[in-house]
Amino acid sequence: MSPFLRCSIILPVFLTAVLLPLKDAQGQDGIWGDALKGSGSYDDFEKPERCASCHVDIARQYEQAMMSRAYTHSWDEIEYFKLAVPHAEKDPKFKDAVDGCNGCHAPLAYIAGDIPPPRPYSGSRADESVSCDACHTITGSGEDPPYNYSFTIEPGRAKRGNREGVDSPHHLTIRHDFTMSTELCGTCHNEKNPFDVWVKSTQMEWQEGPYAADGVRCQDCHMPPARSRNSIMSKEYDDVAQHLFTGAHSPGRLAGAVEVAVYPDVREVVPGERIKITVACYNHKAGHKIPTGSVEERQLWLTVTAVDAEGKSYHLPVDKKGFDGEEYTISSNELAFQDMGYMLDDPEFEGLSRDALPYEGDRVFRMPYFDPEGRMTIAQWNTARLGTDYRIGPRETRMETYTWKLPDDLPLGTVRIVAEMQYRRLIKSVGEYLGVPDEEMKAEFINRAESSFDAVDY
Ligand code: HEC
Ligand code: HEC
Ligand code: HEC
Ligand code: HEC
Ligand code: HEC
Repeated sequence: MSPFLRCSIILPVFLTAVLLPLKDAQGQDGIWGDALKGSGSYDDFEKPERCASCHVDIARQYEQAMMSRAYTHSWDEIEYFKLAVPHAEKDPKFKDAVDGCNGCHAPLAYIAGDIPPPRPYSGSRADESVSCDACHTITGSGEDPPYNYSFTIEPGRAKRGNREGVDSPHHLTIRHDFTMSTELCGTCHNEKNPFDVWVKSTQMEWQEGPYAADGVRCQDCHMPPARSRNSIMSKEYDDVAQHLFTGAHSPGRLAGAVEVAVYPDVREVVPGERIKITVACYNHKAGHKIPTGSVEERQLWLTVTAVDAEGKSYHLPVDKKGFDGEEYTISSNELAFQDMGYMLDDPEFEGLSRDALPYEGDRVFRMPYFDPEGRMTIAQWNTARLGTDYRIGPRETRMETYTWKLPDDLPLGTVRIVAEMQYRRLIKSVGEYLGVPDEEMKAEFINRAESSFDAVDY
């Protein structure tokens, strides 16, 4: 090591060791949530480019993750500026909640009190979204369970991580249990709205599920450990936390998240008679429910079709189970989302197709969000009540049946049954109406299964 480099390592470490207690005294530990608003400035935080100069791989990974675009991503921009901000201007009781969008999506802007922040890509530091320095200077949570940016944070020389006794020429490093906990994630991945409704509960779903009991954290799945270097000057480790954070925007993360199996109750049927087809849907890959997080806008649905010996296909509607609120779990084109008319200042607005899926009658694994007037809403902040939770829990299996009276003239021969599960990040009718880029409404493949039976003579 050159004397210069050695000096540039020792001096800052020495200085920060001396200065750190001072910084602690002035730090923001002890306040969290809404009290963070305007409590500091952008300059308290280092820019991600600075971190990227040494943590090259981690930075390149993280640039591709949605959290590094939580403020700039176009659908976020549209929902915030077209719906939420105008809504809060008309109805001041939503102001704190709508300011609070930034607590999670643009924490630096929230702390700097720059609200609403300048539009994305106009050069403001709100664009940094959830930045390296935001996560790595969080010290704890003021709430248990954590929710609504309840993090306490001390921006400064000390970066909190997962390794004991590592040295950096640029900052102090502290091994910090909170950084390694799921509560860190929960400070933003659990959310309670002005109606006291839990509109996001990913960390709580995890806590109640089997993965918490097994000690498999969010980090283990979303930042998987792999042999590599965590910075250009460090040695190789076996288990560097890869900052991938793949989620609903990664086809590979979604694919296979639910296992699907299909079978008929009999292998030979006479046309004109009934057959019952069963589909088992097993969430074997996610540590929380599917869908989770932005549940108000996600769709996970199952389509079952039969294809006869001559290639003609028949869409089969799911059998009703009869539970309360089941109508919201079966695809329909009835009108919904009427509360957008008020937000958009359009008194003529009648609503949009609730599901806008290729077929009506498919099972949709979801939990509907209702506005104060009882209509389905896409606006989580305007959600007064949640409907029946028919999502698929971690390691849970849901069974669906399809009773089909075969047409009398069904051609004899083998009938194939195809069950396909798909996922959409944003309901198509809503996205199209608001001008959201098509890729947000793309149907993503989750899984597919096939079986068959024979249509036979008497
Ligand atoms: C001049 C180079 C340099 C810069 C700039 C830099 N780091 Fe580091 N950082 C290092 C080195 C070297 C280590 C120690 C790595 C090791 O040996 O495991 C380290 C360690 C860390 C750790 C602790 C890792 C652990 O395993 O606990 C974190 C967290 C971290 N840096 C975050 C940041 C953040 C956030 C920034 C930007 C605000 C940043 N670093 C800027 C070089 C740098
Ligand atoms: C400071 C707030 C904050 C913290 C802390 C935080 N997240 Fe996020 N996270 C967000 C926001 C905001 C989004 C939504 C990004 C967007 O707009 O699409 C998000 C999105 C995600 C996504 C979804 C990506 C996708 O493709 O849809 C994953 C996965 C994720 N976070 C994992 C984690 C994990 C794991 C942790 C803890 C180690 C964590 N987050 C901590 C705010 C946070
Ligand atoms: C056992 C592995 C596993 C664990 C543990 C896990 N996840 Fe996931 N996560 C997944 C899979 C698989 C998906 C994709 C399916 C889906 O969207 O639910 C996913 C998706 C997500 C998404 C995107 C959801 C959406 O529909 O937009 C977020 C956000 C997320 N996880 C955050 C977290 C957080 C926060 C934790 C910890 C509290 C966590 N995950 C724990 C596997 C895991
Ligand atoms: C959403 C929060 C979050 C963001 C944003 C984030 N990190 Fe991390 N980082 C973590 C967590 C959590 C760990 C510890 C992982 C674990 O416990 O398995 C970690 C670990 C690290 C480590 C040590 C990795 C190892 O295993 O040796 C470094 C270095 C690091 N982060 C740097 C960065 C840099 C640089 C950025 C920005 C490009 C960044 N982080 C962005 C949450 C974050
Ligand atoms: C408590 C933290 C928190 C608050 C407050 C919050 N969000 Fe989010 N938001 C998240 C997280 C975490 C996700 C990612 C969930 C997922 O991937 O399923 C998200 C996802 C989104 C998405 C979907 C992004 C996508 O890629 O599909 C939009 C749009 C959005 N938020 C807008 C808002 C608006 C507008 C507000 C204020 C009314 C707000 N958020 C308040 C944490 C928050």
